[in-house]
Amino acid sequence: MNAFANLVHDSSAIQACHLDALPGEPDVVANLILSPGEQNHWRSMRAVEKRRHEWLLGRCAAKQAVQSLLEKEMDLCLPSAEIEIAPDPYGRPQVQYCGAVPWPAAVSQAALSIAHSHGTAVALAVLDPGARVGIDLESLTRRRQDFEAIAFSPDERRLLSALPADLTEEWALRMWCAKEAVGKALGRGLSAGLLAFHIARVEIARIIEVGLRDGALVQFPQFEGKSLLVYTARESDFVFSAIIYQQGAVRMRPSRQEIQDYLLQKMGELTEDWDYPDPVHPESRLFTELGFESLDAVVLCTAIQEHYHTPMPFAELLAEIGQQQRDLSIKELTDFVDTHLGGTAENGSATRRVQ
Ligand SMILES: CC(C)(COP(=O)(O)OP(=O)(O)OC[C@H]1O[C@@H](n2cnc3c(N)ncnc32)[C@H](O)[C@@H]1OP(=O)(O)O)[C@@H](O)C(=O)NCCC(=O)NCCS
Repeated sequence: MNAFANLVHDSSAIQACHLDALPGEPDVVANLILSPGEQNHWRSMRAVEKRRHEWLLGRCAAKQAVQSLLEKEMDLCLPSAEIEIAPDPYGRPQVQYCGAVPWPAAVSQAALSIAHSHGTAVALAVLDPGARVGIDLESLTRRRQDFEAIAFSPDERRLLSALPADLTEEWALRMWCAKEAVGKALGRGLSAGLLAFHIARVEIARIIEVGLRDGALVQFPQFEGKSLLVYTARESDFVFSAIIYQQGAVRMRPSRQEIQDYLLQKMGELTEDWDYPDPVHPESRLFTELGFESLDAVVLCTAIQEHYHTPMPFAELLAEIGQQQRDLSIKELTDFVDTHLGGTAENGSATRRVQ
């Protein structure tokens, strides 16, 4: 899960776990790691062996993710069997402490998502009571013929066909995973319909932007006009998509004006001690006017990425500027950030998306 964990870099209070096999015989593992309630469920589970195996593997991954998170963040070492993962009425996994001693509420503050496919399970846990998470994975080796016709709208299929031909198969699965990840984070899965989660934009650099439509908007009207950013990654034969968002403060795309205001404020902070006589304004140029050096630009770019929780190809932008021996205005930088957060950079600046 390294590729994925690196992407979701906005919070240290996050833990992913990826398992390809159970650490022992299923019944032995079940006895060791499951709570009494989970053991009852495991024993009475009427399902094909594959489903039982993946359910147990998912529990292993989930418990490991939660344990590591609690240990890392709170110095709490809990036995697996005292962490119970029970579904809410819609199937969303919830974390509870079921040990004997009274325990800090932190355990049940962990938000968790589980996915399994083709003998592999992943779990993503975040220690934040206001957070929702969703993760999904698919195996690239289990290609379903023409699943795009059912899974995607004509607009989404157009997005796919605009990608380089050698990437379409992989990105079709990543887009599918993005829909499932959003459905899981919202807690109702894809019950509103496959097309109710609409892929609005794909950035090959690892981001998929998803909006809600139709039945999904009926379920979650607060998402009207908002876009959710889903991270996506590939590791060997699997693709993953995952989302983390704060309830009530959806990580949504900021407007161009908001981006510009943020950049002006940030530049104001950075240049505070630099004896620059005039106020910083959108036309101010970083290098010739504001006296930026390369390292200052790198510090600024890092701050922008952290602020928006989104990796952007600043290295390529700075290299391009160096090669062309030109300067960069705050207005252009605004357009660059806007473009890479999903905007259209309508302001007409020359900055284009760097892939
Ligand atoms: C939730 C859903 C997206 C899971 O997708 P899937 O491909 O079947 O299975 P995955 O391996 O990706 O994920 C399974 C895990 O999702 C989690 N999950 C199930 N329902 C969930 C929900 N409502 N919210 C969040 N997570 C959920 C569970 O942890 C489950 O694992 P577990 O049962 O072993 O604990 C899908 O089953 C769904 O949309 N269900 C609801 C509506 C429905 O029936 N839709 C049919 C259209 S496909």
